Amino acid sequence: MPHDVTLIATLAVAFVLASIFGYIASRLRLPPLVGYLVAGVLMATSIPGFKAETAMAGQLAEIGVILLMFGVGLHFSLGALLAVRNIAVPGAVVQIVLATLVGAAMARLWGWSLGAGLILGLALSVASTVVLVKALEERSALATTNGRIAVGWLVVEDLAMIIVLVLLPALAEVLGGHAAGGAHGEPHGLLAALAITIAKVGAFAAVALIVGPRVMPWILRQFARTGSRELFTLAILTLSIGIAYAATMIFDVSFALGAFFAGMVLNESDLSHKAAANSLPLQDAFAVLFFVSVGMLFDPSIIAREPLMVLGVLALILFGKSLIALTLVIALGYPMGTALMISAALAQVGEFSFILAGLGMGHGLLPPEGLSLIVAGALISIALNPLAFALAGRIDAWVRSRPHLEARFERHRLPKLAALERELNAAEKRAEEKAAKHRTLNPQELAERFPLFARLTAEQREVVILHFRPQSARPGERVIRKGDKADAAYFISSGEVEVEVGRRRIRLRPGDFFGEMALISGQPRSAHVTALDYCSLLQLTTGDFREILRRYPEIRAQIADLAAQRGQMNLEPEDAGGERKPVASPD
Ligand code: CMP
Repeated sequence: MPHDVTLIATLAVAFVLASIFGYIASRLRLPPLVGYLVAGVLMATSIPGFKAETAMAGQLAEIGVILLMFGVGLHFSLGALLAVRNIAVPGAVVQIVLATLVGAAMARLWGWSLGAGLILGLALSVASTVVLVKALEERSALATTNGRIAVGWLVVEDLAMIIVLVLLPALAEVLGGHAAGGAHGEPHGLLAALAITIAKVGAFAAVALIVGPRVMPWILRQFARTGSRELFTLAILTLSIGIAYAATMIFDVSFALGAFFAGMVLNESDLSHKAAANSLPLQDAFAVLFFVSVGMLFDPSIIAREPLMVLGVLALILFGKSLIALTLVIALGYPMGTALMISAALAQVGEFSFILAGLGMGHGLLPPEGLSLIVAGALISIALNPLAFALAGRIDAWVRSRPHLEARFERHRLPKLAALERELNAAEKRAEEKAAKHRTLNPQELAERFPLFARLTAEQREVVILHFRPQSARPGERVIRKGDKADAAYFISSGEVEVEVGRRRIRLRPGDFFGEMALISGQPRSAHVTALDYCSLLQLTTGDFREILRRYPEIRAQIADLAAQRGQMNLEPEDAGGERKPVASPD
């Protein structure tokens, strides 16, 4: 080869195989993820003349984890999580503990160390949010109450795993492993190591949650206002990967945690939907690489060598976790339908299991066959997941067809579910209201209210909207004082204002604008402008006003025309003015 193209070769082979096997998986009605894992297995073992760059694939996979966790953070809704807390928190925590203990006990029987057993148990105790969300989407169940509870349950699991990922490096030596990279850590006691880890994470979380919400949405807004999609996407990438990297370098926390916080901080901003939409293609592409690289680490011979271990792992994933969850949900007083949905949701393992297993191996805790077992379990359980949902549906129908069971496990329990549903809906409404407060108008409303902008494309209007700052005025409030230096122009979204030029009184209504004359002429304000009732105004500062006029010459012409007409009218003798039509914006 003329020069080093190993990165391109790795990417090319990974994408080609992933798309072929992803397609085949999807034709077989399996999640495409199964195909990506298979592609990785083949890539590592059976392509003649191709030597897979495992280390490079590992780094690409890490980018996948960063973007995935950024996405999880971006969609993380504290309100929805609080609404389902009574079932999701105790349920997920007790289920993780029980499933981990079962896994560790099983590994003990195989003669593994306690540390190895705990890592295996933990990795098997959690399910993949990505797989669940895809499964619910396919069944149109994502927005149902049971679907939202299942997602909440898995988010609690994700959060628990983030805590485990953070604490594991500190605990590794106590569990019989070593510090990362084979080096021995400083001779701190366990408590000191834990305290340092928690302090670092605390410091990072504090910086992220205090500085983040002030700075990040602002940065993103500046990029969005340029109207360039590529700059906006670049800003999102920079924020997610940059923060994850900085968090690792400065605070020593994992990439995953850094990216999760970056997403969560942006989550509340009005640009979060746009951020999610723009980062999705990248997230998808790198997530594929993540699954391929997990497949590359898989040693298929494990199935022939250790069939009983594989069966044990599968039994825990497919039946152990589901039965634990089923019992817990029923014990918490919720209906059978909810319990079955969560059980089916849990009957698989995914990304966090791989991340945890990778970290466990890095610390010398998990033997290499541990990872192979987890990948085998993931491959098979994800492939069987549609069956798990179908079986759950069957059992649900069966319970409903027996009147006494139906009464006991469904009907009597429905009020509890209904109460939770009300809370969920209320949380959703609060989130919407909060978002509406941040938002000024949508592009459609802008065109309807301000004919001036009707000719712009929806995308251009979106950029214009990003320049507006919402402002309100009370009746009698003077918005502009004659003779002042100009600093902004105003668009009336609702309410009326009165312009006072000499003895003339001119009313301006929703859809009109004012304050443009001084900005154009550079002179002081030409008139008083006073609110007549409660007004919602959209303010454009001088810089933004000039920017919009520069960018859209058509709008510039219309505004300049009107300003000239108004100026002309103000020069005419006043008694003529009363008869004249006030000079408002053209429709
Ligand atoms: P400006 O001079 O910046 O501040 C006062 C504003 O009142 C002015 O911009 C116009 O937007 C508005 N204004 C002044 N004269 C008239 C008029 N004759 N008709 C409508 N609006 C006016």
